[in-house]
Amino acid sequence: MDAFPLDRPARLAVFASGRGTNLASLLRTFPQGDALGSVVLVVSDREDAPALARARSAGVEALHIPWPRGGRAAFEAQAQAALEARGIDLVCLAGFMRILSPVFVEAWAGRILNIHPSLLPDFPGLHAQRQALEAGAREAGCSVHFVDAGVDSGPVVLQRRVPVFPGDTEETLAARILYEEHRAYPDAVRLVLEGWAFPPPDAGFVRERYGPEAAAIYAALEGRTPEGAPRKVQYLRVARFLERVGYPDRVLAAWKGTGGPVERAAWAWETLKLEAYRPGAAAVRQELEALKAELPPAVRTLLERV
Ligand code: GRF
Repeated sequence: MDAFPLDRPARLAVFASGRGTNLASLLRTFPQGDALGSVVLVVSDREDAPALARARSAGVEALHIPWPRGGRAAFEAQAQAALEARGIDLVCLAGFMRILSPVFVEAWAGRILNIHPSLLPDFPGLHAQRQALEAGAREAGCSVHFVDAGVDSGPVVLQRRVPVFPGDTEETLAARILYEEHRAYPDAVRLVLEGWAFPPPDAGFVRERYGPEAAAIYAALEGRTPEGAPRKVQYLRVARFLERVGYPDRVLAAWKGTGGPVERAAWAWETLKLEAYRPGAAAVRQELEALKAELPPAVRTLLERV
């Protein structure tokens, strides 16, 4: 929980095996010189990955690290050395088609994210969109989650949902989800870097920080927030807010719902903070800017009036 925020811009690495459209949205949102963080390294296991070309054309270091047959240990040793040498703070897997070992992932616990095209915990693993169609799901979406030792099993930071339409194919559904992915990933990274999203620590951490009564409440928390994060994270966000504004002694009252205006303000803040991440306004604005050059004049004119 304490990995972020940093008191300086974060250095991000993106691992991608393929076309790299999620990488592109991260490059747009976290360019060189950004106050919150910049993508400074792109790693691929495939030398010909379009993701590497995208990195180069954005002026970002592109590193091919081969994954020979049975060669996970060699890949990970090289990757770890590269990350350390460049002082990387956060690793973002974006269409990285390899499974990293528990040892690697645990070394980066709380500092490694992945994006997956389903509403986890539903449909982990390959062909998530096909799995959703075959299961007759009415709704699909994407999840940005912390990576743990399992496959697509770590705690969710954010999800975005899309409808499934009659007649959808794997391709049409994947495209609808991908559009949301390009918003969800930058939003989730921002939340993590600002210290508002983290894997929920165990109750021992809460006991030490906020006392035994708070730890008992925390241990009993179940379920998820509207964005798909564990409910425990929501409570810790409220606690962290109270700490940051100088009222660490109000955490228990806020959690019990017995406080006054300060405690109520902390909950209101949490709701609004997360709401602000749902539309992903900043990322949408950047996308529009990037699209403008390709748009017909009539569309551009109308857009300029918004
Ligand atoms: C995305 O659908 C992502 O959710 C999944 O792999 C795909 C990568 O697409 N993990 P891209 O390379 O970012 O375009």
